[in-house]
Amino acid sequence: MDGPVSIKGWVRTVRKQKTLAFVEVNDGSNLSGIQCVIVFDKVDEATKAELDKVTTGCAVELTGPLVASQGGKQAVELAATVLRVVGACPAETYPLAKKRHTLEYLRSIAHLRPRTNTIAAVARVRSHLAGAIHAFFQTQGFVYVQTPLVTASDCEGAGELFRVTTLNLDSVSTLPKAKNENGKEQDRVDYSEDFFGKPAYLTVSGQLGGETHACALGDIYTFGPTFRAENSQTSRHLAEFHMVEPEMAFADLTSAMNNAENMLKYVVQHVLDSCGEDLEFFQKFYDKALMTRLEKLVQKPFVRVSYREAIEFLQEEINKDPSKWQFPDVSFGTDLATEHERWLAETKFESAVFVYNYPKAIKAFYMRDNEEDGGETVNAMDLLVPGVGELIGGSQREERLDVLEQKIADVGLDKEDYWWYLDLRRFGSVPHAGYGLGFERLVTYVCGIENIREAIAFPRYPGNAEF
Ligand code: 4AD
Ligand code: MG
Repeated sequence: MDGPVSIKGWVRTVRKQKTLAFVEVNDGSNLSGIQCVIVFDKVDEATKAELDKVTTGCAVELTGPLVASQGGKQAVELAATVLRVVGACPAETYPLAKKRHTLEYLRSIAHLRPRTNTIAAVARVRSHLAGAIHAFFQTQGFVYVQTPLVTASDCEGAGELFRVTTLNLDSVSTLPKAKNENGKEQDRVDYSEDFFGKPAYLTVSGQLGGETHACALGDIYTFGPTFRAENSQTSRHLAEFHMVEPEMAFADLTSAMNNAENMLKYVVQHVLDSCGEDLEFFQKFYDKALMTRLEKLVQKPFVRVSYREAIEFLQEEINKDPSKWQFPDVSFGTDLATEHERWLAETKFESAVFVYNYPKAIKAFYMRDNEEDGGETVNAMDLLVPGVGELIGGSQREERLDVLEQKIADVGLDKEDYWWYLDLRRFGSVPHAGYGLGFERLVTYVCGIENIREAIAFPRYPGNAEF
């Protein structure tokens, strides 16, 4: 093969033999990295001295020609003629020894865990998914909008908000000093309660802001961080996660479902085309059925059932043996639990399933009343997928001013707080619809991993805001 190349990366393993040494280096661009072979006869003293410093985890640069591999796992290897240790890594204190660590342990060293195969593969797949989401919407002519993270409104009306407080620097500097635990004087911190005198929160969803732009630009999407102060320690919830929220004007619930189905198929196909090595790794170590499941998602039309039908299917199944269920009481008005959602997707339909027309009482105030369905339901949909449960939640929005005002009053919100949202219904109102895709749930689903805490670089959950 042609002239020399340079590899810069981190050492996974080093094996020294009598006449030669093997150094496995990974630069993060793929799973397997590259094997570098150093033949002692063919390198100078400086490189031999550097080789003595090489340990797992150190940063190195190796130069030499790529040659056909001598029976290794890969087709080529680097016949290194020059080796330089860029950053040493003391073996005694390096927390990532060669053996496999539990995912729980790796969370406690979140700053180093991207150097492991699992977390690096998740990061690469996640990046591809994000790119494909933008590509899908951009090629469909959707405008990318950034909505604020600090807001006064509770979009979902669920009260799961983190409050924003202002650190008042003036009052801090004038307060008498406090003593810290070592007896040293330090500033007393004074948090005034509000955002410059007004209550404000971290956003739970970009939807309401997104609607303002859909009602001006047609089709838009947001893709940004969202926050929920729900005190849940599940493998599906984070306190900080990312949501993709398209919003379409002149659109109904069916258009939202169609768009969600096309979008998911597009992004999963992209990952199948681009991340083969990483997906095979996940299939081998995490989910034996991964490829079949992803291929099926792309090929098969998603199932669509009404909430009423879903309840009937569940009741029929639960009646066979209620003792098998953690939540056996299911009737019209039940907020489906993850076990119900997963049974529908995994067992009943073995497919991604849209459940639509949910009872009004368990859904948010902004969803459009469904008179055609007897007035008890709203035009809402959730997409349930095997392994995860709810991946997407969406709806057609209530565009009628009088109906929306009544709905706001019915749930005990103050319509004055939503004056600008109501303006959209006063001035050129239009049927519109959209949905929110939980991005980390998508990453969890596509990688076939168990816990959403591996799907994001620095997971935030109750009791964890380190790093
Ligand atoms: O169903 P949700 O609450 O819907 C909304 O927020 C709407 N405003 C979206 C819209 O119509 N524009 O959340 C949407 C999705 C869920 O289906 C789920 O995938 C994800 O966001 N999600 C979470 N993901 C991780 N951790 C949490 N705590 C989540 N809460 C919701
Ligand atoms: Mg939801």
